[in-house]
Amino acid sequence: MNPTFATAEPTPATKLGPSRLELAREKLIVALDVPDAAAAAELVARLDGTCLWFKVGLELFTAAGPAVLEPILKRGHSVFLDLKFHDIPNTVAGAVRSAARLGVRMLNVHAAGGPAMLTAARAALAEIPNPPQLLAVTMLTSIDLAQARAIGFPAPPSDQAIFLARMSLDAGVNGFVCSAHEVEGIRAFAGPQAVLVVPGVRPADSDLGDQRRVGTPAETLRLGASNLVVGRPINQASDPARAASQILDEMAEAL
Ligand code: C5P
Repeated sequence: MNPTFATAEPTPATKLGPSRLELAREKLIVALDVPDAAAAAELVARLDGTCLWFKVGLELFTAAGPAVLEPILKRGHSVFLDLKFHDIPNTVAGAVRSAARLGVRMLNVHAAGGPAMLTAARAALAEIPNPPQLLAVTMLTSIDLAQARAIGFPAPPSDQAIFLARMSLDAGVNGFVCSAHEVEGIRAFAGPQAVLVVPGVRPADSDLGDQRRVGTPAETLRLGASNLVVGRPINQASDPARAASQILDEMAEAL
């Protein structure tokens, strides 16, 4: 075959070699937003071999409890437990302690719980060997200016998110959940070691749903996100593995 023709074809990221694709896999977290353990097992099985990280959130955890984590962890996957704790410091410390014992790699609390709550969460994790990464949720990615004003935040949601991330960092938390719109701003003061986990990720042609502060997989990574959380574009796709592969290709090309 004439090599000139071979190199003229666009190269899918899956053919760029394992390292960029493997790096992309380490960065993609699929939201298991499904109603029960059977649906979660089916989705994980369909994504086995394509995705490494899964997020268990309020819908699935409330329906199926901690037992839903076991088969996912047994398959060797990493889990982000997205329960967004927000309560008094003592209660959050207890919840964080319980969650950390489940073998998850990431868990989160709402930054808006305040510095005392964040400090209590951090102290609870300090007692645990090899603790999960603690993330402070800044402003939900579904919140736009009108929603922010309705809750009483006069500032644009991105300003409020950056404010909450600074406050969290001052309280000793170096992991954040934020939107693509705040990644650059937070990375600038939190530094390269900080973990920035970004939901509200939408491939160019996909539905926003209720998300408002969004970014594409490629731009979100280029802005400096550590991990992307993707739900409906994968979990509602007729072929979730194909949808995930397309997103991974886009991510790998951006890395
Ligand atoms: O389906 P979609 O991609 O919008 O899912 C985003 C996931 O990330 C959901 O599980 C949602 O609960 C979660 N999430 C979010 N915004 C945050 C924190 C978590 O959308 N700030």
